[in-house]
Amino acid sequence: MARRDFDLVVFGATGYTGSLVAKYLASHTDRPRWAIAGRNAGKLETLGLGVPVLIADATDRASLDAVAARTRVVCTTVGPYAKHGDALVAACAEAGTHYCDLTGELQWHYRMIQANHERAQATGAKLVHSCGYDSIPSDLGTWAAQQAFIAKYGHPAERVTAYYGEASGGLSGGTVASGIGTAREASESKEVRRVLGNPYALDPDPEAVRPAAPDESSIRWDKAMGMYTAPFVMAQYNTRIVRRGHALAGFPWGPDFRYREVMSAPKGPAGLVRAVAFTAGLGAIAFALKRPALREMLAKRVPQPGSGPSEQQRERGHWKARFLAERGDDKLLFVVGDKDGDPGYKSTSKMLGESALCLALDELPGGGGCLTPATAMDGKLLDRLRRAGLTFEEGTLTA
Ligand SMILES: NC(=O)c1ccc[n+]([C@@H]2O[C@H](COP(=O)([O-])OP(=O)(O)OC[C@H]3O[C@@H](n4cnc5c(N)ncnc54)[C@H](OP(=O)(O)O)[C@@H]3O)[C@@H](O)[C@H]2O)c1
Repeated sequence: MARRDFDLVVFGATGYTGSLVAKYLASHTDRPRWAIAGRNAGKLETLGLGVPVLIADATDRASLDAVAARTRVVCTTVGPYAKHGDALVAACAEAGTHYCDLTGELQWHYRMIQANHERAQATGAKLVHSCGYDSIPSDLGTWAAQQAFIAKYGHPAERVTAYYGEASGGLSGGTVASGIGTAREASESKEVRRVLGNPYALDPDPEAVRPAAPDESSIRWDKAMGMYTAPFVMAQYNTRIVRRGHALAGFPWGPDFRYREVMSAPKGPAGLVRAVAFTAGLGAIAFALKRPALREMLAKRVPQPGSGPSEQQRERGHWKARFLAERGDDKLLFVVGDKDGDPGYKSTSKMLGESALCLALDELPGGGGCLTPATAMDGKLLDRLRRAGLTFEEGTLTA
């Protein structure tokens, strides 16, 4: 990449999440050469960040090409991505500009791979979707758990299960709009439903014969962990990212490697009640989202674009996910989390900010394409996130 005006540009800095990412970068000790971009100059200026302001609109490809040509990395929080994201990904692929975002929209991620992977391989652009709570803990957590397993046992685990369950935080308007948008697309298109139902939808060859990997649909007692498990709301997304990363890396954990994700609840009657409540709640939301009238009614009653959890909710928030890696009798527990911040916003702004800095400033292996956080940045991102206060460490199996 020839020298460009900026190391990175944050697109969408006026949004709820984008403003948190911009503030995170403004106080970072790395001091990148950076700028903010968006469609509304006045709103961008009032953020008072003291960095250059670039004007670009998600609907104006020429304005996005101009931004992509001036920077090494574009970090975008302009979502829902399925509504606003196509042209920027294409602009970055074309300009050989690295890119990171926060999407959790499976059907859109699938379309971006089909549209841009080959071009990005040719230009060297690393296009890295899902650099927040969705899906860095899953993707980098599995990668780091496997590194620890290999160091301990001399071979990779053949099975990793992620247990999400401990988290405190809330949802923003953009996140809710993205979920509703995906449900709307699914109800209108058989092709979208097919993509959402394919456990290997994001693999380089989504139709290849691979081990069965059904999504969890019921409550179970997990003997190895001594916990109840229930379906996890983001599993249908995160599992596909982990599987894509494994395929892109050339299946280093073996052709039969299996990854699953669940919500966990503690043992005892209270844990069982929690698991039942999660499952019933998810079922009720899925039921409502499939029905246009209920869906549109719900859309009016949830947080609207630009709004989200209070500062107090973000500051008091925290999260923890446990990864159980197994091969026969060899077992290893790996813990990933953040005690200082809610998952979706404070912690996510660290994860996305560090991803953007990593893509801009660190020496990274390999070439371009639609990559996952772990395949694009592996140990370099892990080091950064540990320095930012996130936990990635071996735990103790007690069950
Ligand atoms: N994966 C995760 O863990 C995670 C966590 C948090 C958020 N997210 C995702 O992040 C995205 C943003 O969420 P949010 O709640 O922060 O949304 P938001 O507050 O509604 O912000 C949306 C941003 O997009 C900008 N925008 C909208 N249309 C535009 C256009 N045509 N051209 C340029 N900019 C445009 C808005 O600019 P204006 O100010 O000019 O309107 C605003 O800056 C969502 O897709 C959400 O799902 C994901």
